[in-house]
Amino acid sequence: MGFNQKDIISIRDFTKKDIEYILKIAAEMEPIARSKEKSDILSGKLLGMLFYEPSTRTRLSFEAAMKRLAGSTIGFAEAGTSSATKGENLTDTVRIVGEYSDAVVIRHNKEGTARFVADIVDVPVINAGDGAGQHPTQTLLDLFTMKQILGRIDDLHISLVGDLKYGRTVHSLAYALAMFDVDVSFVSPKELKMPHEILHDLDKSGVEVFETDDINDVLNKTDVLYVTRIQKERFPDPQEYSRIKGAYTIDYKLLEGSNAIVMHPLPRVDEISHDVDNTPYGKYFEQAFYGVPVRMALLKSIIK
Ligand code: NCD
Repeated sequence: MGFNQKDIISIRDFTKKDIEYILKIAAEMEPIARSKEKSDILSGKLLGMLFYEPSTRTRLSFEAAMKRLAGSTIGFAEAGTSSATKGENLTDTVRIVGEYSDAVVIRHNKEGTARFVADIVDVPVINAGDGAGQHPTQTLLDLFTMKQILGRIDDLHISLVGDLKYGRTVHSLAYALAMFDVDVSFVSPKELKMPHEILHDLDKSGVEVFETDDINDVLNKTDVLYVTRIQKERFPDPQEYSRIKGAYTIDYKLLEGSNAIVMHPLPRVDEISHDVDNTPYGKYFEQAFYGVPVRMALLKSIIK
């Protein structure tokens, strides 16, 4: 795509070649992310970070990525500390931060916010999650994790498990996987199935998807079990959440004998038991680390 000065809003703006390019650069960044090598390629550059929704990994890995490349960050981790509490609107806030920064990262609970902001500010805008919409940088790190751990993405069977209705990570990941030669299964309670329009788009791109509410239907053929949190904050009705929560718990006993690795964007609530953490199945902490080299690769590519 020619990344210089580009907005990163949706994974659908990427081609397979674009994704492969970022993963290649991410591999080169890994020794710097691990502090084995040094780089100052973003020296003097500033990243504006506007987090209107909670975040741990996404925000901190963007900060780590910027600082490992000798750049700096400004911004807020919750809108409560910004002038939003004085009634300032989003447009004014992002315009100002856009003036201060060389790129802007934004997370917001409203779908479409990152695209809206990209039209207002002149510097590149990165979507760090817009409501139940998209989370493209998470998808890139998810794909990088598969590549680093399993050596490839093509030919894998990837099963997405949990809240496929409201989970932005699985929405982005589903679109990305459609560009590869993979088998895909969706495992969710029937109330939290992948939205129709995404199923329709996947069908149009020729991807065959197997859907079930029973993880045992897919476990034996799965290479990557991608587990997600039930997105409590997106439920219009708290009673509905209480009814569905705890629908899945992946524990060591369930996994025993399978060849799958377990990934999760985190945070987890109770969908993966702690007895998986230090086994060869549990790869979610490694996955969280890979957020740093992948975000370094993106920042290096888009900031002039
Ligand atoms: C995810 C998110 O914010 O969409 N977290 C993350 O960025 N690693 C997943 C979640 O909140 O469940």
